[in-house]
Amino acid sequence: MTSKGFIFDLDGVIVDTAKYHFMAWKRLAELLGIGFSNELIEQFKGVSRVRCLEILLLNSNYEFTSYEFEKWLVEKNKIYLELISRVDETVILPGVMNVMNFLRSESIPMAIGSASKNAKRILSQVGIDTFFDAIVDGNVVSEAKPDPEVFRIAAEQIRMDSKDCIVFEDSMAGIEAANRAGMTSIAIGKSNKLSKAHYRFNDFTEIQINFINQLIQKI
Ligand code: BG6
Ligand code: MG
Repeated sequence: MTSKGFIFDLDGVIVDTAKYHFMAWKRLAELLGIGFSNELIEQFKGVSRVRCLEILLLNSNYEFTSYEFEKWLVEKNKIYLELISRVDETVILPGVMNVMNFLRSESIPMAIGSASKNAKRILSQVGIDTFFDAIVDGNVVSEAKPDPEVFRIAAEQIRMDSKDCIVFEDSMAGIEAANRAGMTSIAIGKSNKLSKAHYRFNDFTEIQINFINQLIQKI
């Protein structure tokens, strides 16, 4: 029996879908005639749909009602679902399956800890839902990352202490959430904004099975 569990963020870690979220927000901003800057990319990563819209509207001086706010959330999701409607296993990021297959071969518990309400749909569309012992997503949590709730629930569901969980994340909010949960955080990505993670790799192809083994055996 192992004493470690691995929790994966979904968008930008397992699958290359962060770009579709971003494209959908950009399109919504165009529809609303709101300015949109590429600097929002990092800010949108890992945070809930509601929070993304709040950030988008923050500097717009746009007057809106709560009805419109809800309508735009639905509209963004409609655009996003259209963009991902035909994605398949080719959106799985390089090197991820190598690590996931190894963990599965060692019977090590794996969970998803994602802010997305579309996590289950994507996992089954891509054909990897059966790898996970728990899927904790935006439908489950009441507090969005950087709050640690999503990872704490995931740890509970795979019956692991927080200190024995290792989290893969591509967002600042997610790294903060993992650190606040008392877990080992591994950043995936090139951004210097990920420096608060315990480890950082540009992508999964840089992660050696030896490194994973060391994490598993660490006391
Ligand atoms: C996260 C993405 O995984 O999910 C965020 O990094 C996104 O950019 C969030 O806003 C919520 O996703 P969804 O699918 O519920 O709109
Ligand atoms: Mg992510």
